[in-house]
Amino acid sequence: MAIAQTDPLLLFSPTSATQLSPPCRRQLRDKLRGEMLDLQHAAAFLPGTRISSSVDYSVTAGSHLCIITAGARQIAGESRLDLVQRNVAMFKKIVPELAKQSPASTILVVSNPVDVLTYVTWKLSGFPAGRVIGSGTNLDSSRFRFLLADHLEVNAQDVQAHMVGEHGDSSVALWSSITVGGVPVLSSLKNSQIKYEEEALERIRKAVVGSAYEVIRLKGYTSWAIGYSVANLARTLLRDQRRIHPVSLLAKGFYGIPDDKEVFLSLPAQLGRKGIIGVANVELTEEESVHLRRSAETLWEIQRQLDL
Ligand code: 2OP
Repeated sequence: MAIAQTDPLLLFSPTSATQLSPPCRRQLRDKLRGEMLDLQHAAAFLPGTRISSSVDYSVTAGSHLCIITAGARQIAGESRLDLVQRNVAMFKKIVPELAKQSPASTILVVSNPVDVLTYVTWKLSGFPAGRVIGSGTNLDSSRFRFLLADHLEVNAQDVQAHMVGEHGDSSVALWSSITVGGVPVLSSLKNSQIKYEEEALERIRKAVVGSAYEVIRLKGYTSWAIGYSVANLARTLLRDQRRIHPVSLLAKGFYGIPDDKEVFLSLPAQLGRKGIIGVANVELTEEESVHLRRSAETLWEIQRQLDL
């Protein structure tokens, strides 16, 4: 999907469709046209958005933002990292074409494993790192805020909390920087006499990491929360809102991650029309830094072995 200057929403499938038999290709084109029509029929409820679709990359030419959601998705019991080989092969077809059609665009990667595929997109596109972003732990942080708000009986919009690192099993909860209505959470727990239970907070972190597995087990895939997360990021990027989101970015040199490790993982970053404006300097405890570097190691081990 690519969103160009006039904000049309494009739907298109990778030209790998050419490798399908004619009946399958016809079925794919019909499905694509059906999705487009179904979205166009909502036009009266949407801001001025033109929706079109194609299997030809040229329709994406001149886009400001290209969002890649293509790829195999986890089945129950699979981890995001299990998808690497299948999706890297697909990205080798998609990314060079998108980059050729929109050389000045920002690419937002959503497909999993998102941190590895954002690294792959950076390598294959040749774009500066600031214009290659992964949706990363923007979604995990929303889940974290939801669960914390439920535990603290407050509104999730009043909870500021970040998960960083891998969008996956090794993601890191930044306990020390959580605030509720601007008040650091640990002291607000003491102030509001809610029994401060370390095991309750660890239960919340585990529930965040397990969220996608539970939804996939129950309905087969996740869609609503990741969709809202990507729309939240696209709005900040396209409207130059300069808001801070935890997104997957080139993290070497930040938070003690060695300069020689070109690893992509999520850190809180300010985003605008031109992509990443800067990485926020959030205070981490020593324990949080250790967990973040461990998450970086996990991802780097995979990224460095890829044949791109
Ligand atoms: C999610 O966390 C599967 O990465 C996707 O919902």
